[in-house]
Amino acid sequence: MPRVALITGITGQDGSYLSELLLDKGYTVHGLKRRSSTFNTERVDRIDVHPRHPDARLFLHYSDLTDPASLTNLIRDIAPDEIYNLGAQSHVRVSFDIPGYTADVTGLGALRLLEAARAADVGCRFYQASSSEMFGATPPPQREDTPFHPRSPYACAKVYAYWSAVNYRESYGMYCANGILFNHESPRRGENFVTRKITRAVARIEAGIQDKLHLGNLDAVRDWGYAPEYVEAMWLSLQQDQPGDYVVATGEGHTVREFVEAAFAHVGLDWRDHVTIDPRYFRPAEVDALIGDYSRARRALGWAPKTLFADLVRVMVDADRQLLEDERAGRLVRVDR
Ligand code: NAP
Ligand code: GDD
Repeated sequence: MPRVALITGITGQDGSYLSELLLDKGYTVHGLKRRSSTFNTERVDRIDVHPRHPDARLFLHYSDLTDPASLTNLIRDIAPDEIYNLGAQSHVRVSFDIPGYTADVTGLGALRLLEAARAADVGCRFYQASSSEMFGATPPPQREDTPFHPRSPYACAKVYAYWSAVNYRESYGMYCANGILFNHESPRRGENFVTRKITRAVARIEAGIQDKLHLGNLDAVRDWGYAPEYVEAMWLSLQQDQPGDYVVATGEGHTVREFVEAAFAHVGLDWRDHVTIDPRYFRPAEVDALIGDYSRARRALGWAPKTLFADLVRVMVDADRQLLEDERAGRLVRVDR
């Protein structure tokens, strides 16, 4: 029998890459989609075989991390071997504007899913998408035993979810693993995260349809990796004899300014001609520097990053140039589901 996975957040950046990975490994994949007045399944539509197709192995279900009954019903119905909880209100700046909603989805949502898995009693393994944001103000390098000091409603919610997963492991013997992932990016990154905002703008400025790029704090240091490699670590963390928690990172730190400089330089432009600072993008509390020590993941999972900073910038800028070209030529066709 093929193994069965349930992914919350399947319509997001990581969910789409994880679906592809699991389908390649022969899994049947179920994902949770939210009701929205606009289409929100674009990232998975491109890999989907329509559910009516006899070979279909990817299925989307309406549910929500705020709705416990739908989570319990879904887990009972599909009896997954593995659950990946990637669903979240994942934008740090936005979490200051909607702290209650962020706590509900990103924090309590994890608890609801753990409880639904426990109640369904189907013996599944559970992956919690934890975040380097939990380290917050604690200086780098950060690893699994570095103390948390969250600096946003989002990070506070992720700390709650992290400890809930540990608690279900210790209280009920459930196989729960936390992946403490540092920033990871790709051409599928949401357009209001800083890397994608920059690469999209670079493509548009090069094409002459945008002039300025408005950014916030350029001094923040982040450890940026490549998302398709990070979902492999998620899967590996559920394949071990014993459950554990793992930092997943590149070990390299770069400022936002360095990212901007490299992205503009890739198309032969000087970033100083186009970037302006807009205080609206500053955060009430900033996380100054995140750089991960992924030694445990390397030792226990055999995982290591392959795509580092310069290649990541190039891949993302080139993908946005191509996307813009396709949009302008009318080559993008939405899949009708
Ligand atoms: P993303 O692109 O923002 O995707 C978030 C996903 O969560 C989307 O599928 C979204 O659905 C879904 N979601 C939002 N609210 C929900 C709700 N109420 N109920 C159910 N689903 C909901 O995030 P990502 O970059 O793929 O990250 C995946 C996970 O890893 C997130 O939990 C994030 O916090 C965490 N993480 C990310 C990074 C990173 O650098 N990317 C690093 C560490 C941890 P819609 O598509 O309908 O909005
Ligand atoms: N989004 C954004 N937009 N960030 C900006 C901007 C801007 O215009 N200008 C500067 N920044 C700075 C932010 O202040 C932050 O220091 C840094 O760029 C990165 O911001 P984001 O790309 O929004 O990511 P993040 O680090 O806050 O959060 C991401 O990574 C976390 C893991 O560390 C998200 O993916 C989280 O969900 C994830 O947990």
